[in-house]
Amino acid sequence: MAKRILTGIRPTGKLHLGHYVGALKMWKELQDQNEYECFFLVADVQALTTHVDRPSVIEEAVREVVLDFIAVGLDPTKPNIHFVLQSWVPELTELTTYFSMIVPFSRMEGNPTIKAELAQMNSSPTVGFMIYPTSQAADILLFTTYPPQPNDYLLVPVGADQVPHIEEAADIARMFNNRYGNTFLKCEAKVGLIGRLVGTDGQAKMSKSLSNVIQLSDTADDVSKIVKKMFTDPEKIRKNDPGHPKECPVYKYHKIFGSRKTFSGRYKDCKTGGLGCVECKNTLTEVLNNFLDPIRQRRLIAEQEPIGDYLISGTDRAREIAQNTMDAVRKAMHLDYPSIFKKGG
Ligand code: TRP
Repeated sequence: MAKRILTGIRPTGKLHLGHYVGALKMWKELQDQNEYECFFLVADVQALTTHVDRPSVIEEAVREVVLDFIAVGLDPTKPNIHFVLQSWVPELTELTTYFSMIVPFSRMEGNPTIKAELAQMNSSPTVGFMIYPTSQAADILLFTTYPPQPNDYLLVPVGADQVPHIEEAADIARMFNNRYGNTFLKCEAKVGLIGRLVGTDGQAKMSKSLSNVIQLSDTADDVSKIVKKMFTDPEKIRKNDPGHPKECPVYKYHKIFGSRKTFSGRYKDCKTGGLGCVECKNTLTEVLNNFLDPIRQRRLIAEQEPIGDYLISGTDRAREIAQNTMDAVRKAMHLDYPSIFKKGG
């Protein structure tokens, strides 16, 4: 039984704690199970859906994302771990085109993540943006093991906001298979236990565009400054005021990143007014810096490593699979034209 993992991230900047909690932590755990061949896609083409006028940002971010991958413990020197650069896999573009012929446009417009993103956009969306879930389906399904065996599946570990896209990919696989015969494997989303991390400002999501992030590569000093400015319960003005930890991002971070020693009693002490926000924040700075220290150290080492070579060898392996899949796709869609090459025809 072949087990493959395919997942990806758009290189638009350095990665932050939200990426760690929502995705990277789970990726590292799955890597360490040693049961899967894992493909971590740096989705530079998909990054163009929002950054087409900022190509140098993407260029820089590709390197930063790979450094962040290594910093959190993903290891491209293992034989089963591959870092893949999306634009180096032309088969993805080809498969996207074929998929775009069978996917009703209404499915793209109805995709909940697309809808939410459109609502925040102030210009007319591009064609590329509108069909990015179709191209994301190609990213995933290209890694099908062919021919698909009943027990094989593709696992796609992602943050919660990506789930509609993975379901879309599973539907596209079904649509294709119904039309042209069994070609693509089932794919399944896997969402981490913690899911989404609130921003430092208390907003629902940590996101660079909201400027409420702590980056994995931030220095101890950066972290201290950001934590000092973090949003806290507005009703807790003085130390002795009773707080509402459930609504406080500082408390939430303590819960996720702290140890039993640093976390226990915190809820009660905040609620009863025994613990002030300044002290609570000081401890959080320590907690976060303890968590980030080994990540920072690995990143420093990674900066000396051959990032480009990792991407080349990972992408080579991806293309080997991609070419195999595309042979099957062309055959299924009668695009291999055996009749043209028939002897004496
Ligand atoms: N859309 C994902 C994001 O914004 C990135 C991505 C591209 C992806 N291709 C993928 C995720 C395939 C999972 C599978 O982070």
